[in-house]
Amino acid sequence: MSEAVLKLEKLSKTYTLGKRSVPALSNVNLQVNKGEFVAIMGPSGSGKTTLLNVLGCLDKPTTGTVLLDGVDVVRMPENALYKIRRSKIGFVFQTFNLLPYLNARENVELPMENTKTSKTERKQRASELLGMVGLSGREEHRPHRLSAGEQQRVAIARALANNPAIILADEPTGNLDAKNKREIVTLLANLNLKQDTTIILVTHDGQVAAHTERVVLLKDGRILKERQGLHSAKKKLICPCCGSKIEHGDAVCSSCQKKL
Ligand SMILES: Nc1ncnc2c1ncn2[C@@H]1O[C@H](COP(=O)(O)OP(=O)(O)OP(=O)(O)O)[C@@H](O)[C@H]1O
Ligand SMILES: [Mg+2]
Repeated sequence: MSEAVLKLEKLSKTYTLGKRSVPALSNVNLQVNKGEFVAIMGPSGSGKTTLLNVLGCLDKPTTGTVLLDGVDVVRMPENALYKIRRSKIGFVFQTFNLLPYLNARENVELPMENTKTSKTERKQRASELLGMVGLSGREEHRPHRLSAGEQQRVAIARALANNPAIILADEPTGNLDAKNKREIVTLLANLNLKQDTTIILVTHDGQVAAHTERVVLLKDGRILKERQGLHSAKKKLICPCCGSKIEHGDAVCSSCQKKL
């Protein structure tokens, strides 16, 4: 059985600007299972960032339910949400949100503060993560001394800091050239395959979306349609007992019932 890690039910979000109401999401139902790699696509203004913010408990819906690991988070107090976000979710924001007065390494260290890690461990992990996204040698650079693509990679390293079970990424490859884009998509795909990290990414790029498992298309705040991506093929495994196809993450073969 697939386990829902995030579930939205009849979810709507309307912003209020003075006397005007701006509907951003209308009656969205979406389930993302543990270990899924999902892309959200749609035209500018279709509600992608709003959807990601609601999924990541950064913003509350106007109506509807958000279940995170089966727990309704809509009515949870902010201090409890903060702890959940810090321990379970890594964010990559569309506008990076790096702190300008901290250097790259200190920005990556930030989510690890107030966790059970020493200063030395935090520093070491931050440097490793920066190396992983191809930024060795840039540790001491403050954001204004990094290119947009480099800032984006610092934001990705920061999202990985606490080894989150869920990564929510808003246009994580938007400012990258073809080579860096490929590397970041491969990095995310490998995290998903090897560590079973649930990943939801927003992208305008059809090539990036194709490398995910499921593509959700938004239009005017509604889910228009869904299609399968190429990543699902990588997850098809074979049962060692009977040779039947099994899904990545299954605990038991559905044909021969052997434990996997
Ligand atoms: N804080 C806000 N206050 C009022 N309206 C908002 C706010 N944030 C977003 N909106 C509106 O909600 C709608 C959805 O915005 P959202 O940022 O989710 O779109 P998006 O799909 O992420 O667009 P893009 O591809 O340009 O990033 C838009 O019409 C936008 O103008
Ligand atoms: Mg957006």
